[in-house]
Amino acid sequence: MNYFDKIKTAPLKEGALILAIESSCDETAASVIKGGREILSSVIMSSITEHVKFGGVVPEIASRAHTTAISLTVQKAVEEAGVSLSDIDAIAVTYGSGLIGALLVGVSYAKALAFSLEIPLIPVSHIRGHVSAGYLADIKLKPPFIALLASGGHTAIIDVKDYYTYNVLGGTLDDAVGEAFDKVARVLGLSYPGGPNIERLAKEGANAIELPVMLKGKKGYDFSYSGLKTAVINYVHNKEQKGESYNKADVACSFQCSAVGELVKKAIKAVKEKGYKVLSVGGGVAANGYLRESLEKACKKDKIKLVLPEKKLCTDNACMIGAEGYLQYQKRNFADLCLNAKAYVGLGENNE
Ligand code: KG4
Ligand code: ZN
Repeated sequence: MNYFDKIKTAPLKEGALILAIESSCDETAASVIKGGREILSSVIMSSITEHVKFGGVVPEIASRAHTTAISLTVQKAVEEAGVSLSDIDAIAVTYGSGLIGALLVGVSYAKALAFSLEIPLIPVSHIRGHVSAGYLADIKLKPPFIALLASGGHTAIIDVKDYYTYNVLGGTLDDAVGEAFDKVARVLGLSYPGGPNIERLAKEGANAIELPVMLKGKKGYDFSYSGLKTAVINYVHNKEQKGESYNKADVACSFQCSAVGELVKKAIKAVKEKGYKVLSVGGGVAANGYLRESLEKACKKDKIKLVLPEKKLCTDNACMIGAEGYLQYQKRNFADLCLNAKAYVGLGENNE
């Protein structure tokens, strides 16, 4: 019997141990998750310092760094979980969306390991992973709820109807919110990744610069961060060309207020319109302190339960891939050894 025939019919285990691997961008991450909700280990090796001088992630450098780091990262994750490879029930791996060369390192490694251990291989969408971070933050979290996804590659309001059925209520029409943070940071002379640096600088400034209202007059849940970003860049260039001084901290603060304000407003509106009681948040931008405080305030006011994963579960990690992997494991969504990495997979195979 070949590998796939064998695992296709293998019995499922309650509380299975999933070894998860994530390598879609600049973090090589591995984690062991029990029953989809309990983190036994989490190891993250980042190549960020190698990209800083280029002002963004350089795909080839990221791929090479993953190749160097992957074996050790997986080994450490298994050791820190206090288990051995033979205890692992399935391997979950991010197969998209992301940088293709970077993804291929994780996918190839996961395939080889799953084959040698004769256990299921579970392909996981990175975006679904970010949403599933909520299941780790609150072990009682159950759909339906609204998920706000705010990362470097995605911005979306998602109606999570059940564990598998997602309806995207709205998303960005152009730049993702994290991308806008990174681009505004660059024009202000702040290093990559821009988000945390904008957040730091914004604390010293005031919301004193008037910026355009996003998609003025439009209803719905879409975002457009390109206009906001361009308005900030024009403001800075204008001042510089005229030789006028301006307050960088005020620029950072005003941009952050506008960018975050839209996320909060639309996420709360979605929860209310759907008649839900819970909002769960994921993605790197959800590590932003101002966004976290604003969501806390707004949810308290409207009596909405807020599921806010700790910061290290918002930025890229493998725990969230393990949480989502367990859901897919229960559905027997197993891949054969032809699994390939994909630059774009959206929410994966089975959504609305
Ligand atoms: O989810 P993530 O780690 O990777 C993607 O899937 O894209 O998100 C990375 C993005 C970057 O754009 C980064 O600038 C942003 O998240 N980010 C933040 C903060 N920390 C990370 N943005 C605003 N404030 C932060 N504290
Ligand atoms: Zn991400």
